[in-house]
Amino acid sequence: MQYLNPWKRLIKSSRKPIFEFQQGCSPPAETNLNLIRACIFDLDGVIVDTAHYHFLAWKRLARELGYELTLADNENLKGVSRKRSLEIVLELGGVTATEHEKELMANKKNTWFNDYVERMMPEEIFPGVRQLIVDLKKNGIKVALASSSKNARTVIQLLRIQHEFDAIVDGTMIEHSKPHPEIFLLAAKKLDVKPEECLVFEDAEAGVAAALAAGMKCVGVGNPQQLNKANEIVAKTADFKISELSKL
Ligand code: G6P
Ligand code: MG
Repeated sequence: MQYLNPWKRLIKSSRKPIFEFQQGCSPPAETNLNLIRACIFDLDGVIVDTAHYHFLAWKRLARELGYELTLADNENLKGVSRKRSLEIVLELGGVTATEHEKELMANKKNTWFNDYVERMMPEEIFPGVRQLIVDLKKNGIKVALASSSKNARTVIQLLRIQHEFDAIVDGTMIEHSKPHPEIFLLAAKKLDVKPEECLVFEDAEAGVAAALAAGMKCVGVGNPQQLNKANEIVAKTADFKISELSKL
C-alpha cells in the first residue's frame, strides 16, 4: 500500500499552505512554510469571564474613590497589569495617592477579585473552549496560556484546565505587561516555536497590540471596532474554526 503524506502533496502543489486540519495529522516540523504551530490563549475574557470580575472589583474601588467606573473605562484596564490598572483608575478619578496608599488599594481590589473567583466552577469555562484546545492539540498545534494576571494559576486550577497547556506564562513571570510583547515572546520560547508560528487569542486592545508587536498573528475575541487591528475577529473564542489556521 502506498504511503500518502498529505503534507508533502499539498506543499508541492500549492505555494500557499492550504491544507485540511484533521485529527492526528501534524504539520512536519522541517518545512519552512509559515505555518501556525502554536496557539497562545489569554485567560480573562478569552477562556473564562473573569474580565467581568476584574471590572466589578475596580468599579467597587472607584466608587470608594467617589466616581463610577464605566464599561468603556474598563476597556483600558483589560490586559494590563494590576499596578498599571490602578494608575488608570486613579487618573480617571483625578485621585492622587502615595505609594503606600496605592499598595493598600491594589491589595483591596485583589481581595475582592479573589472573593469573586474562589467560588468559580469548571463549568464556567466559556462553552466550546476546552474542546477547541483539545482539537488544536489533536492537530499537532501546541497550546500555551499567556495572562498578565498574577492570579492566572489559581483560576486555571479552579477551572481544572491547567493540564491542557504545554506552557503557562503569567503576571508573576514578566516585567512588562501588554501591550509590551514580552509575555507572548516568553510563551513562544517555552513552546520552542518561532513568534511568526504563533496565533494569539485576545479580548483586549492592549493584548492584540502585544501579539502583533511580537510578530504573531492574532484573533480578537469580542468587539470588532475595539479589536480592529487583529487578523481575524470572532464574537466568542469557540467561534474560531481550526480550518482558519491555514488562511491566516
Ligand atoms: C489580566 C486582566 C487585567 C488584570 C491583569 C492583572 O491581564 O485582563 O484586567 O488587571 O490581568 O491581573 P491580577 O490578577 O494580577 O490583578
Ligand atoms: Mg483578557
